Amino acid sequence: ADPDPLQDFCVADQSASSISVNGFPCKPASKVTSDDFFFDGLTKVGDTSNIFGSNVTGGNVLTFPALNTLGISMNRVDFAPGGLNPPHTHPRATESGVVIKGKLLVGFVTTGNVYHSKVLTSGQMFVIPRGLVHFQKNVGVGKALIITAFNSQLPGAVVLPFTLFASTPSIPDDVLTRAFQVEEKVIESIKSKFSS
Ligand code: GLV
Ligand code: MN
Repeated sequence: ADPDPLQDFCVADQSASSISVNGFPCKPASKVTSDDFFFDGLTKVGDTSNIFGSNVTGGNVLTFPALNTLGISMNRVDFAPGGLNPPHTHPRATESGVVIKGKLLVGFVTTGNVYHSKVLTSGQMFVIPRGLVHFQKNVGVGKALIITAFNSQLPGAVVLPFTLFASTPSIPDDVLTRAFQVEEKVIESIKSKFSS
């Protein structure tokens, strides 16, 4: 979904903070080395000791600057037993993924509110059409691991529980009580779970 590159590569210069562009400016070609094109950040097991029991490790332009202008990125998602990667969307990318380990329920909902889901095991792949709300839940006995891939160097993630109940400043309670048709105490209870 990202624009096409206009040169072989444009390794992001994250330190060029004085200029603002769509993406990142390029590191001078004379300073680019082989190491720029390799990234071992996805070799590390993510820490799943949080309320959801899952952890996303990003291999996007922020962590792997060589992806700048190339229109792709990947994540590693670790799951504790029962862990959930909570409902979220990526505004800038379609997602595909493959289960490396474990057994996961993968689901998404269309703009017509049709829910599609399947339980997948090692080697099986899924696709989440761009922008649709989706999740993965570990339904196996042990840990689980997936690798996901995106057609954007920085797909972005709108994580619904945080977006709706943990924004800064908060969405007013009367908006949320009306939206979800519940009492204010229900909204306050949900908000309290995400305030750290
Ligand atoms: C999984 O949904 C991911 O965004 O990596
Ligand atoms: Mn996703």
